[in-house]
Amino acid sequence: MTSAPYYQDDLAWVHHVGYGQLAERAAPGILALLERAEVARGASVLDVGCGSGQLAGALADAGYRVLGVDASPAMVELARSQAPRAQFEIRSLPTGKATSAPGGLPAADAVVSTGHVLNYLDSPEAIAAALRELAGAVRPGGLLALDLMTEGFASAHEHCRGHARVEEDWAIVTRDSRPGPRRLHRQLTVFRRVGDGWRRTDEHHRNVTCEPAEALAVLGASGISAEERPSFGDEPTLGGLVVLVGVRR
Ligand SMILES: C[S@@+](CC[C@H](N)C(=O)[O-])C[C@H]1O[C@@H](n2cnc3c(N)ncnc32)[C@H](O)[C@@H]1O
Repeated sequence: MTSAPYYQDDLAWVHHVGYGQLAERAAPGILALLERAEVARGASVLDVGCGSGQLAGALADAGYRVLGVDASPAMVELARSQAPRAQFEIRSLPTGKATSAPGGLPAADAVVSTGHVLNYLDSPEAIAAALRELAGAVRPGGLLALDLMTEGFASAHEHCRGHARVEEDWAIVTRDSRPGPRRLHRQLTVFRRVGDGWRRTDEHHRNVTCEPAEALAVLGASGISAEERPSFGDEPTLGGLVVLVGVRR
């Protein structure tokens, strides 16, 4: 886990109201993948890095038993209020624990993750450890589906450098930098209207990129035959994000 907590109250809220549609758009494709893998409604799904619960809510509304886990207490609090049919817990990856051990990931019929969650970990080794934990949580015959940020994504951002958006009661400014290979750092400043004024919060996110071949090798060694896809389903995706989908043998 990182030293400074990511997605504190105001950034969690801004992500929820301004950027949560990415997870919502992934939901139909993930439901189709679950159906194709014959993970029936009523089965358990673990949503890793669930954020404010848009995907978890959509899967729970479709009849799955969903547990969402996320390192951000603010995200988990939002998720509990937004998706009451799902369960949520604070959990930081890699947990360092075996599947179903206290503090570890529980076994599930499917493990899903959107929003390049694993790229928030500190190093390629931590990403590999988390991939092994996700793979280990998938029951035999179950599905794993997740997205990852590659170098292609980070390079594209190198040129655009940042992003700004201003809404009625919030605004966000991000500045990107590449402090080294495999590293995309983002300085995020959020303004949220509070009474007659604006509250400012700053976060510094350190993303580590991961290439699909490396992740597929880790998953393969962990018993998951996976393949790379451009998206979960038909949803539009951000260039340089890849989706890995596999089934436990
Ligand atoms: C870009 S958001 C994606 C949220 C949601 N899945 C979505 O698609 O909208 C990344 C999420 O990963 C979570 N996260 C970051 N590092 C984590 C870690 N080490 N363990 C668990 N969750 C983490 C953050 O708190 C945040 O909710």
